[in-house]
Amino acid sequence: MEKVEFRVPRGPTGTWRPTLQLIRNPRAALEGWAKEYGDPFLLTALNGPVVVTGREDLIRIIHGQDPNIYAPFATGTIVPLMGNGSMLILEGEQHRRERRLVMPMFHGDRMKSYGVSMQQCALEQFSAHRARGQIATLDLMTDISLEVIVRTIFGGNDRELALRLMDASRAVVASGSPLLFFSKKTHVPFFGFSPWDRWNKAKRELFQLLDAVIDARRDSNVPSDDILSLLCNAKYEDGQSITREHIYSELMTFLFAGHETTALSLTWAIYHLHKNIGSLTSLRNELDALGDDSPSSLSTAPYLKATVQETLRIHPIVTETLRKLKAPLQLGDYLLPVGMAVAPATVLAHHNATTFPEPELFRPERFIERSYSPFEYMPFGGGHRRCIGAAFASYEMAIVLGTLVKRFEFELVDSEPVVPKRRNVTIGPSTGVPIRIIRDR
Ligand code: HEM
Repeated sequence: MEKVEFRVPRGPTGTWRPTLQLIRNPRAALEGWAKEYGDPFLLTALNGPVVVTGREDLIRIIHGQDPNIYAPFATGTIVPLMGNGSMLILEGEQHRRERRLVMPMFHGDRMKSYGVSMQQCALEQFSAHRARGQIATLDLMTDISLEVIVRTIFGGNDRELALRLMDASRAVVASGSPLLFFSKKTHVPFFGFSPWDRWNKAKRELFQLLDAVIDARRDSNVPSDDILSLLCNAKYEDGQSITREHIYSELMTFLFAGHETTALSLTWAIYHLHKNIGSLTSLRNELDALGDDSPSSLSTAPYLKATVQETLRIHPIVTETLRKLKAPLQLGDYLLPVGMAVAPATVLAHHNATTFPEPELFRPERFIERSYSPFEYMPFGGGHRRCIGAAFASYEMAIVLGTLVKRFEFELVDSEPVVPKRRNVTIGPSTGVPIRIIRDR
């Protein structure tokens, strides 16, 4: 048999050092390596070797492949965190059928039916935070997006239950140290004090609560169209129901993937609008001209949509998305072997000065002046694993941002620049972005 000659790009040496650099400051690390070794480059992180690229032509190749050549990355790390029914780690036919089942829950008319509840969450949480004095935007947005996802998943009728679920979910997110997501080796108990112990304690408490809610939902004869009820009653195409373990896993995934991401993006939006008063004025003028701020009106406002897109461009919440090769892949000049991973680096693509001139500038107009291919602009990833909450999150961001900017005037408390900082797999602002309310409009 003819021997295949694999060819892999160069990259930084070592494992711990590049992993820590990536954890500490992903954009600087990725940009530095691309400059030093060229794009693509090979990174050997704790989770294994990864070929990273921000080039449109190579991202097109990666996302254009048959999904069967890919396995999810770092399942060994994710399974203990999320359980083995999470969409993040399913593969092949199981992954496809899970997406087909869940997609409609976050799209189209069903998604739009959540609009009023999203706006209500934004206004109620704003009043609650306001009553406590100065507002930390990140805390406000976390409460809003957590309540939105909790109400969407569990239904909006039982506020007391929603608050308990929010507390339990917040505790799980807070216990998610970045290292837990980078290496299974950190999943070790230590008399209740290790990050792994803290994560499991928080997860157990959330699961106990979920158990009670699922039992009540299965025993109830009252019809309900929240996502938990849809999951409890859903059947795959072959008529099979979903097991309880699997429901746990997906709920964890939706809670985890679905609120912190949106909260961080909304916080960046408020920050950049108030650092760029021209953009804030353009947005206000558009919102004022709209007349009402019903979710259906807000969702049609072009400058508001462009503001959301520009926010997700300048600060992608996930800086790179990974897939592991189950078959060799020809990536430009390189032939990559099975077992290696490939990673479109969103943060490199979004800061490419040819595609996005003056990439450091926050300029929503660029999304009105032209459109971008899904290989140039990909805040929600791409291909067969593109975020299932992309439409839902964009809709939520437009409603929350549009409502708050139209109804209130605020200013930033600090003049210091806010910079990106890693949280777990996500990257967010380095401060809570405190704001002061100037007046109601
Ligand atoms: C601004 C908010 C959000 C951002 C920036 C974001 C970003 C992403 C990214 C980058 C991926 C990986 C895609 C890939 O590997 O190519 C992803 C996957 C995923 N997201 Fe989101 N997301 C957001 C909101 C949401 C929401 C609201 C949900 C709702 C439940 C959600 C659920 C998921 C799920 C389940 C996956 C896994 C998809 C799969 O593996 O097939 N996300 N998201």
